[in-house]
Amino acid sequence: MAPLAPRAPQPDDADPELAAIAKEISGCEKCGLCRTRTRTVPGQGNPRPEIMFIGEGPGTDEDRQGLAFIGRAGQLLTRMIAAMGFPREQVFIGNIVKCRPTIDNAGQKDRPPTPEEMTACIPYLHRQIAILKPKVIIALGATAVKGLFGESMTGITKLRGTWLSFDGIDVMPTFHPSYLLRQGGDSGGTNKAYWDVWGDCVAALKKIGREPPARKKI
Ligand code: URA
Repeated sequence: MAPLAPRAPQPDDADPELAAIAKEISGCEKCGLCRTRTRTVPGQGNPRPEIMFIGEGPGTDEDRQGLAFIGRAGQLLTRMIAAMGFPREQVFIGNIVKCRPTIDNAGQKDRPPTPEEMTACIPYLHRQIAILKPKVIIALGATAVKGLFGESMTGITKLRGTWLSFDGIDVMPTFHPSYLLRQGGDSGGTNKAYWDVWGDCVAALKKIGREPPARKKI
């Protein structure tokens, strides 16, 4: 395998507190995921964001590059962030767990993190949120909601679109971009789940006092 290129510099690297957490994460051995990871993925973006997106955990591409949401799901998320009127660097994108969970921990297919892995990792996210102080968090998918609010918070289909609160920060649960891809992605605009998520993003924009850009179903 080709040697790893250095992780691309990110806007939050300059924030000493966030950089210190990322450094701690890079040496973390709190769960078994440390044995199969290529790189840790602390999350990246604006150190003082209005909006923070939280996903599940890194996949193959993220594990190789040390950056959250850069694979197919990440590209869809990036298009959605652009449609909201932001460059990616203006928001912060992170995950519940910082190392890639794989089936049998053997570098095979991705899987959701176990409750034990989430419990081991979640203090890093809590510390990041306390520094980032986003106005709004968009929780992407069931694992993000469980990671923030506990294992009993199940049923993303019912939960999405309804405001929750984490440490005084408004949280909008919505579907994960990987689910949207399985439902048909955003090409053609006929995917109902995609427009549900767009509606949740519009609600988040309104919550922070921004005028949502007009968009039509194609
Ligand atoms: N899916 C996630 O939940 N997070 C990533 O960083 C990539 C894919």
